[in-house]
Amino acid sequence: MKVLVVGGGGREHALAWKLSQSACRPTLYCAPGNPGTAAIGTNVPIEQDDLDGLLQFARRERIDLTVVGPEDPLCAGIVDQFEAAGLTVFGPRSAAARLEGEKAFAKQLMRTCGVPTADARVFSPSDRERMLLRAASRPGEQDVARHVVRAYDLAREYVATREGGIVVKASGLAKGKGVFVCDEPAEALKVLERLMVERVLGDAGETVVIEERLIGREVSLMAMVDGTSIYQLDTAQDYKRLRDGDQGPNTGGMGAYSPAPAIDAGTLSLIDREVFVPVLDGLRRENVEYRGVLYAGLMLTAGGPKVLEFNCRFGDPETQVLMVRLNSDLVSVMEAVVRGRLDHLTLEWDARHAVCVVLAAPGYPDASTGGARIEGLDAASAVPDVHVFHAGTRRDGDSIVAARGRVLNVVALGETLEQARSRAYEAVGRISFSGMQFRTDIGAAAVDRSGAAGSTASVRAN
Ligand code: AMP
Ligand code: GLY
Repeated sequence: MKVLVVGGGGREHALAWKLSQSACRPTLYCAPGNPGTAAIGTNVPIEQDDLDGLLQFARRERIDLTVVGPEDPLCAGIVDQFEAAGLTVFGPRSAAARLEGEKAFAKQLMRTCGVPTADARVFSPSDRERMLLRAASRPGEQDVARHVVRAYDLAREYVATREGGIVVKASGLAKGKGVFVCDEPAEALKVLERLMVERVLGDAGETVVIEERLIGREVSLMAMVDGTSIYQLDTAQDYKRLRDGDQGPNTGGMGAYSPAPAIDAGTLSLIDREVFVPVLDGLRRENVEYRGVLYAGLMLTAGGPKVLEFNCRFGDPETQVLMVRLNSDLVSVMEAVVRGRLDHLTLEWDARHAVCVVLAAPGYPDASTGGARIEGLDAASAVPDVHVFHAGTRRDGDSIVAARGRVLNVVALGETLEQARSRAYEAVGRISFSGMQFRTDIGAAAVDRSGAAGSTASVRAN
């Protein structure tokens, strides 16, 4: 069996590693992959957004299963194209991936289905206004555009009526840079100008979602969805902020641990009932079927869980801690999802705990600088029950260098969260590269809270 993994980050290395252990002993390809995936399969030099190139390769090599990691190719329709060519592919089609690719669409759908989420309004320019804005590239022209675009005026008026915390989101895909949590309306007005007039995020920011700022504990939950059945994955907690104690800027994720006892069994079934089931029903009413993994980012507020966002893919780095704990055969699980046979399946999890510490390049998340040589990879992997997944690395002769962003994901398993944590940090201590950034508190608060945190059972529902 031939399996192709699309993408080249730590999530894709973890998925490829787990797929490579399948009982069917697949021949594994990764496009474009990274030095970590090169050690378990063959890297193919095709970028994740080159859909035609990927399709040609998959047809030529007669790939039996393609697994798509990142959101961009999913939103661009890679699954639609592969299916049209008769290929088997894991992930939602573009109409379903809109849940992530268009926040305005997701918000509207949640509203119609009664899914709890932050109160919000969407401001979208008309087609004519869009054309004017796209043509106005110079500052003088932008001034003209500013005065003709009604959506921008309305958004400003709306912000002026708000008090306190407010969140402005670019509706389109923005590589994690499209959400602005503002302390006061004046800050939000500046964001609106940058998105809607200066178009700093291009087309992705021309429609904005403005919502109330929710207060609570942030959690996320993923579920496999096969068109009909929903099967929640075990729990994982990630860490969005760059620095210890949840300080510093938001990032793609600086670490994770699993299981996450903060999401108890009651909350899991509540999220199933109030979030996954109604939103998937809502899509179905629009004749959109969801197959793949659905990620819900949530705030546990005093009024119950509320959705912050949906992702149409696996979380990164949540996937890294889940893959080392998944005992089931991932090829079989993904085939069951694609074939609509999830109801025949039970996912088995290792009862042990997993901790992932992300090592990031200097300057991350704003503008990371790469090029530093990484030392100690073998020594780190020699720590018992440790896996080092590559993310932003590059091979340079005999060396591996830190290329960009999140560079490595050091994952450890342990009988307790504390043991997993201490193994992960022992391995981290053996790795070095110039300017390496990481958090020292991944899993720490949960160790303090629980003493001995038990495993949370996964819940299934239809
Ligand atoms: P998103 O990509 O929509 O999940 O937003 C990125 C991050 O911004 C989230 O992980 C939250 O930390 C924060 N955020 C988004 N929406 C809200 C909200 N309505 N209230 C408070 N924080 C939010
Ligand atoms: N860890 C957050 C995400 O994958 O979006």
